[in-house]
Formats: sequence, structure tokens, C-alpha cells
Amino acid sequence: MESTKSSLPSDFLWSFATAAYQIEGAVNENGRGPSIWDTFCKIPGKIAGCASGDVACDSYHRTHKDIALLKACGAPAYRFSISWSRIVPLGGRNDPINEKGLQFYLKFVDNLLAAGITPMVTLFHWDLPKELQKRYGGFLNKEEFVADFAHYARVVLKAFGSKVKYWITFNEPWCSIILGCNTGSFAPGRTSDRTKNPVGDGSTEPWIVGHSLLVAHGAAVKIYREEFKVQDGGEICITLNGDWAEPWDPENPADIEACDLKIEFAISWFADPIYLGKHPDCMMQQLGERLPATLEDIALVHGSNDFYGMNHYCANYIRAKMGPPEPTDVTGNLELLLEDKNGHSIGPVTQSPWLRPHAPGFRTLLKWLSDRYAFPKIYVTENGTSVLGENDLPLDRLLDYEFRVQYFRDYIGAMADAYTMDGVNVRAYMAWSLMDNFEWAEGYETRFSVTYVDYENDQKRIPKKSAKAIGQIFDALIEKK
Ligand code: NOJ
Repeated sequence: MESTKSSLPSDFLWSFATAAYQIEGAVNENGRGPSIWDTFCKIPGKIAGCASGDVACDSYHRTHKDIALLKACGAPAYRFSISWSRIVPLGGRNDPINEKGLQFYLKFVDNLLAAGITPMVTLFHWDLPKELQKRYGGFLNKEEFVADFAHYARVVLKAFGSKVKYWITFNEPWCSIILGCNTGSFAPGRTSDRTKNPVGDGSTEPWIVGHSLLVAHGAAVKIYREEFKVQDGGEICITLNGDWAEPWDPENPADIEACDLKIEFAISWFADPIYLGKHPDCMMQQLGERLPATLEDIALVHGSNDFYGMNHYCANYIRAKMGPPEPTDVTGNLELLLEDKNGHSIGPVTQSPWLRPHAPGFRTLLKWLSDRYAFPKIYVTENGTSVLGENDLPLDRLLDYEFRVQYFRDYIGAMADAYTMDGVNVRAYMAWSLMDNFEWAEGYETRFSVTYVDYENDQKRIPKKSAKAIGQIFDALIEKK
């Protein structure tokens, strides 16, 4: 790939991303209510090292340090999430609002703006108020969930509409649905696999939950556009995750076809209703009536993205399964593999079992999205990697380690190629993550960021080589005004 010839436009926005539960800590402070992740982390065996976000990076008390980090990296923007249960501790539309929660984020946003950093705010990064799970089953109850999310969104959009230009409704709904309500490895931990957790019905729940999240996204966008889009050029979207897919056997038409199915079951599930006003044919065929949708719901979400929020990390090999899909299948009847038919790995091994970098797949997926959704504006809202054995490296080696720097060079280069050579309208990029943090089920055993956090030593933040490298990579690629 000829990345050296490629460039990015002069108004290209880049920075780093984080999420509330992964960095804030202070879970019992200033009126915050518990979320489903607080509860989930207490279940033995769910989180590596029995960890939780109770303290995390203590960013709640160290916002000035985080802003200083962003400045040191030369970052012109910052993507972070607001914790619903800090704003509405019990979560519901008739529950009290926590003024202290609002004040915390208002001050943070003011400080970012004063430092010349553009905020990009995610309304929901997986930390559903626990009470809503208890009251009515959370995402499973569409009417209640949509009404409560719309209320929370209205409170936040009203308070921040004049200060924040970029909004994301939901982060990676696929994870809340599949990992939260199908495999049970994420909160709320529902699964139809009775050996893991005796609650849930994997043949119906993922589709019900997916529908709730999509409609809640549509409702929040409507509120934003009709009531709070006060900033010139203010924008809102949903952020979807999706990895690239390569056939396990490139000579087998079934494997080639399964690659598209894999992407459609992960991405098009949400993006087709948003951009095309209907569910993907392959999903309608496989799921029939299990895929809920009314014309009214589809009309609400159709056209609801101002930009395509893309989280992307890696690629997989895909092998088609023979025979009819299981009732609990959520993939399109296929297997995800890290090695192809000849035992060749899709990319180098990292600390995360699911993540093997493959930058060419990023470029190809950008083009795939651009073609399917008629040239949408794309913001990459997350991209990054863990590093095999990073936690065990001596600090000086860890800080200087080349693997992550190379990952960013390859991926950002591939994105610039997609912009320059494939005509993809990609206009922003947020690296995951600004600092090491609570990596969900992997606890603190996996580090994913450009800043080492010394959790034991006053939460000291020490930039790794990649912290500066990202700015340099963009500096070389972004055209000067
Ligand atoms: C995507 C999620 O949005 C983020 O919370 C997570 O830490 C990264 N992937 C890395 O797994």
C-alpha cells in the first residue's frame, strides 16, 4: 500500500477516546447511582482478577491531569462518555436528577474548551443504571427503556447543547446486546447458555434488545435535532463496532459469502435501518419474526446519523457453517477464526484473544461502508490495540515499545489511503485510548492505551512512545491550511 502518497484534509479531527466506567472511579461519590457494571463486577468469575471500575484511573478526581495529558499529546479533541447514573442515579424519567453530576461534567467540558480541546460526547457507553435493569429488565423493555433514555438524553443535551458539537448516542450496541445478552460475558450477563447463567433466551433477546437500542438512538437524535441542535454544524450519530472479514478458504464461495454475512450481522443490523430504512435481507431471512421492527420505528431511525461512528480494531477469518443456523445464532451461521485454512494468522498476537491487527482490512472496510451507505461522512471513534505481555514488561521497555506505534502507523496510513485513493469520506479519528483503564471482563490485565497508568502509585500517568507518535503521524498526513 502506498501510504506515503496519501494525505488527510486540513480540517481532519483526531484525538483519543475513553469511557466513564473505564476511567472515572468514584462510584459512590456525589450522588452517583450504581450501574449494571457495578453489580456485574461483583459476580465471582466475571472479571479477570476480580477487578472493577470502583477506582479505575480515578479520573473523577483528576480531570486536570487528563486535560494536561491531552495537551501534551497535542490533541485537538477528546471523546469521552457521560455516566447516566451520575446524572439520573436511578435512571428513570420520573426519578430525581443529580445536579452534582451535571456540574461535574459541565466543569469538565468548560475546562476542555478553555484548553482549546473539542469535546465529543458519548451518551451511553454500557453503564446502564442498575435500577432500570431491576425495574423492568433494562434494554428488554423497549417502551420503558426508550422513554427513560430519551429523558436522560434530553437532560444532557439541554445542559450541554451550547457547549458540545459532536454527539454519540450509543457506543457499540452490538456489545451490549451480544456480549451482554447472548454470551453473558458483559453486563447484564444474560445468556441462554444454562451452564453459564440460567437467565435469558438467546434466540429472541438479542433481537429485542437490539431493537430497543436502535429506537432509543432514533428518539435521542430526534430530540437533539428538534430541540437542542443550537451549534452550527452540530452532529449526532451512533457508534458501531465491526471488524473486517477474510474468507478462511478463499477458494470456497460459501466462505466468501459468509464474510459479507458476518459484517451485515454486526454492522448492517443497525446501519441498514439508519441509512437504507430497512433491515438487511440476510437477517430478515434467517430471523423472520424474531427481528422486531415496525414501520414507525424504522421511519424514526432512517436518516438518523449525521456521521457514521466507526469503532474498528482488527480482522478475522470466516468459515461458513454447513446446515441450518442454531436458533441462538447471532453471526449469520459462521465461525470466526484467527487462522486461515493453511494455519496463517490474520495478524500478530496481542494481549486480547479476539484482536489480531490487520490494517489492510481497515481500508477495505472503510470502502465497504462507503459503497454500501452511499458515501457517508465517517468518523473513526475508536481504533487501537493491546500488546502481548505488556503488563509484564519492565517500565522503560513498556514505555518505549514499538508494537503499538507500528499499529497506529499502519492503521492511520490505511485510513489515509482510503481517503486519498479510494475516495472514502473519513474525517475524524480517535485512538483508543488516552490512558490505560478498566478493560471490562479483562479487568486491568490488558492495557490499551498510549499512557501508562500506575494504579498502585498515585495513579501516575506516564506517556508511552505512542502518545507522541500519533500526533506526529497526523502532522505528516494532514494537509496544511
Ligand atoms: C471498544 C469499547 O468501546 C471500549 O470500551 C473497549 O475498551 C475497547 N473496545 C477495547 O476493547
